[in-house]
Amino acid sequence: MLSNEIRERFLKFFENRGHKIIPSASLIPENDPSVLFNTAGMQPFVPYLLGQKHPMGTRLVDVQKCVRTGDIEEVGDNRHLTFFEMMGNWSLGDYFKTEAIGWSFEFLTDKDEGLGLDLNRIYVTVFEGNDDSPRDLEAFEIWKKYLPENRVYFLPAKNNWWSAGENGPCGPDTEIFYDPNEEPLGDMTHDEFVKADDEGRIIEIWNNVFMQYEKKEGKVVGKLAQHNVDTGMGFERIAMVSQGVKTIFDTDLFKPLIKRMEELSSNDDFKIKRIIADHLRASVFIISDGGRPSNTGGGYVLRRIIRRVVRFSDRLGLKEDSISSILEVIINNYSKAYPELEKNKTLIIEEIKKEEYKFRQTLENGLKEFEKGVDPFDLYQSYGFPIELTLELAKEKGISINREDFDKKLKDHQDLSRTSSVGMFKGGLANHNDKTINLHTAHHLLLAGLQEIVNKDIKQRGSNITEERLRMDFICDHKLTDDEKQKVENWVNDRIKDNLNVVRKEMPLLEAEKMGAQMEFGAKYPEVVSLYFIEGKNGNPISKEFCGGPHVKNTGELGIFKIQKEEAVASGIRRIKAILIK
Ligand code: ALA
Repeated sequence: MLSNEIRERFLKFFENRGHKIIPSASLIPENDPSVLFNTAGMQPFVPYLLGQKHPMGTRLVDVQKCVRTGDIEEVGDNRHLTFFEMMGNWSLGDYFKTEAIGWSFEFLTDKDEGLGLDLNRIYVTVFEGNDDSPRDLEAFEIWKKYLPENRVYFLPAKNNWWSAGENGPCGPDTEIFYDPNEEPLGDMTHDEFVKADDEGRIIEIWNNVFMQYEKKEGKVVGKLAQHNVDTGMGFERIAMVSQGVKTIFDTDLFKPLIKRMEELSSNDDFKIKRIIADHLRASVFIISDGGRPSNTGGGYVLRRIIRRVVRFSDRLGLKEDSISSILEVIINNYSKAYPELEKNKTLIIEEIKKEEYKFRQTLENGLKEFEKGVDPFDLYQSYGFPIELTLELAKEKGISINREDFDKKLKDHQDLSRTSSVGMFKGGLANHNDKTINLHTAHHLLLAGLQEIVNKDIKQRGSNITEERLRMDFICDHKLTDDEKQKVENWVNDRIKDNLNVVRKEMPLLEAEKMGAQMEFGAKYPEVVSLYFIEGKNGNPISKEFCGGPHVKNTGELGIFKIQKEEAVASGIRRIKAILIK
């Protein structure tokens, strides 16, 4: 059964049993600063489970978007994900165990209204009891109406007690498992069942929580005023079993994206493709719900997820723009259930591109330093190179990293940065041959030319110089016209013909800032900096930039400057590639 149909059937099934269909809440919790994302269907319901009246009544049904990053390292196996959907039916002080269990069984096994799954492959667990709450014989008795007694197992609170955290509603649960193997596992003893679960040979598909208790600071403190039912069925997992495929990545939720990656790369590492598919799905939904990459909280999670995608896509050898093409497939695949994705498509793609671009700049600088064996903290501080990435790279290369040392330095740094300015000195060219030095000076002229001809506020966002060409990225709100390009090129060539002197000066950072020298966006500088000036004919500098050099002594050495290409790299960021002809 296709996933869209599963969603529809689920909602309809419970609608027919008196439930109101409500839309998924945003992935980003509105009233709960204790979590970065909604991690379960119940999170947006907490006030109602605790007794507040829900405007839609006491029986509700929904499909909630969730993100859990605790298992991010597990993504790539057959069942772990960061983003997933959770289908749930809710009783807010309304029905309890009899109806909840009966309907779960009916939905799973009924062919007409439900999924028509094979009841011989279903196993369930119930709560074995502890000081907080008795053995759940009630749930056991109800299940016996539907399943042979030996397919119902009693397990401890570790397995069968559910709460969202240290505080809030909680209660014993009953979990439903499915055996997806070609050869059914059949009857299992208690121990065999536990082992099959540990080994992932059976799969949990649905949890029914009987929320009747309240937890405060980690302790169950008593009963709630009302009994509730909170159920959660993992959508991707149920799609997997209902479509009779071996992994969630073989369902129609993932197949098209995996296929697109197979078209884009001949690398057959399926695990990497799964990770990219998962992480991009998460990014799409987080951005659509208003999340943006940043250095804190959920923004940092998003940043980390996107940056992992970039690294893994490089490992697959994916070309530029491949990520956008995968994103299109995701958005298209989900547009029926989540029409807002289509509406936010441009924004989503641009945000991810922007983050990719930022990260590539970081990577370019940071990787070189990593190879040199630079201290992870310096990498972090000078290049914004994430510690997780350093740890991953170190693991790949069998190098051990002292995490404690890093954490200590980070703390010292945070203390220090409150009182004084710290930062890195932006170095000069790594490759000091004549060709690159010439292009480096041409690069300064180009920036000055863009400011002179196109817009005085143009800022550089990145640069890269090889022996063959220079590349500059800059902030600009439009594509340059042919006329602008020609004028910029002419301006640079005129300054070359003017035979202008290029001079280096050192001065305090504050003084350099005051005179309005060009700084690289986002870079940090020490208290004394090096600047390069290109002296104009009338003695005033036509260019002054924070820069480590080296440069030519006189612009007359450069040859003829030519713009080869002008293109967009991200929203509001343009890129020029240019050469010098001797
Ligand atoms: N709240 C329960 C869970 O997330 C249903 O598993």
